[in-house]
Amino acid sequence: MPAAVLVGAQWGDEGKGKATDLLGGDVDYVVRYQGGNNAGHTVVIGDQKYALHLLPTGILSPEVVPVIGNGVVIDPGVLLSEIDGLAERGISAERLLISSNAHLIMPHHKALDKVTERYLGKAKIGTTGRGIGPAYGDKIARMGVRVQDLLDPGILAKKIEVALTEKNQVLTKVYNRRGIDPAAVLEEYLAYAERLKPHIADTSLVLAKALDEEKFVLLEGGQGTLLDIDHGTYPFVTSSSPTSGGACAGAGIPPNRLTKIIGILKAYTTRVGSGPFPTELTDEMGEWLRQTGGEYGVTTGRNRRCGWFDAVIARYATRINGVTDYFLTKLDVLSGLERIPVCVAYEVDGVRHDEIPMTQTDFHHAKPIYEEFPGWQEDITSAKSFDDLPPNAQAYVRTLEEMSGAPISAIGVGPGRDQTVVVRPLV
Ligand code: IMP
Repeated sequence: MPAAVLVGAQWGDEGKGKATDLLGGDVDYVVRYQGGNNAGHTVVIGDQKYALHLLPTGILSPEVVPVIGNGVVIDPGVLLSEIDGLAERGISAERLLISSNAHLIMPHHKALDKVTERYLGKAKIGTTGRGIGPAYGDKIARMGVRVQDLLDPGILAKKIEVALTEKNQVLTKVYNRRGIDPAAVLEEYLAYAERLKPHIADTSLVLAKALDEEKFVLLEGGQGTLLDIDHGTYPFVTSSSPTSGGACAGAGIPPNRLTKIIGILKAYTTRVGSGPFPTELTDEMGEWLRQTGGEYGVTTGRNRRCGWFDAVIARYATRINGVTDYFLTKLDVLSGLERIPVCVAYEVDGVRHDEIPMTQTDFHHAKPIYEEFPGWQEDITSAKSFDDLPPNAQAYVRTLEEMSGAPISAIGVGPGRDQTVVVRPLV
């Protein structure tokens, strides 16, 4: 049985929740491998809408074991309130496993995320303010606090003390903020420890055994390819690796276990936060896409920036991730347009670029070169098969497939669980 990865092919918010949910019935384990509660997955089941930030979407399927991998940064307070929120709606998180090696987001990470953004002024990243960057920063600097430290109060106390000795200097002396009381943090985190203990596990070992037993493991990324710390639009990126390479490191399974890499691609493009976005529409067309597609952040409620499909980016995502199949989402949003532009290349200072320019300076100046395709007027939200789609919608999908260089195997035609056209099985 395979280990499959679901990876966002653009700037996140492509609709990964729907894809995970589609596969849910066949899957034994769903693993979040990076990011934290900066992500937001919306899953609609019947008339119920679930917004998940940290919990893997597998939590909604009773047969699935949801796993938070070592590559994730966890805000334990947020995790517990997400667990409690689901419990109130009758969904149990009892099966949840949390990697002992995952890092914890601490109060000073959140304080620093907010204050550093404020200091950056116009140059700000536009982070979600959840402490993600500072938590990963401390992980790399080898001064992070890990989930396993919750199991040893003595070590936890020492790590909090050491971290705050430095961070309080920074908060008070550099940023003129109040320092954070280590004793209060220890008390808060010991209370979290009590509740999280039963979930803590050597998840890499659990997953290796599961794969040996022919179980199906689905690895679920947060954010998207262009927000990858290495392969995204640095510095306007998140602080982890959503791309498929990051999936192995963040879940603790080797690359040769991966058999399918499913890219999630929206039928147009959106982005939250700052940074280059060549096909962005700042006019009423952009507003139309935002309203029709409901493009408001699940995590921060911010307006998403909206624009046309960018085939250069899709091709890049295919290459960087080794995409084997695409799930094209939100095709229904484009119904009713006369013509649909697709960006096929960029122009930078009079020179055509068929690939993402090598430097950020050039990418910032990239102007889209569009080709236009005929739209369709029909409502496609009840399409069940590819043949149910109007010819122009079929042609649009075929065009995106050809341009992105990987087969489009599933198409989202509405937010509901059953509003997916499966062209060929994803796994
Ligand atoms: P951070 O991940 O909070 O540090 O934010 C860094 C950048 O990633 C910002 O531009 C955020 O808007 C963006 N970002 C983080 N998480 C998501 C997501 O789930 N969807 C879209 N953008 C995100």
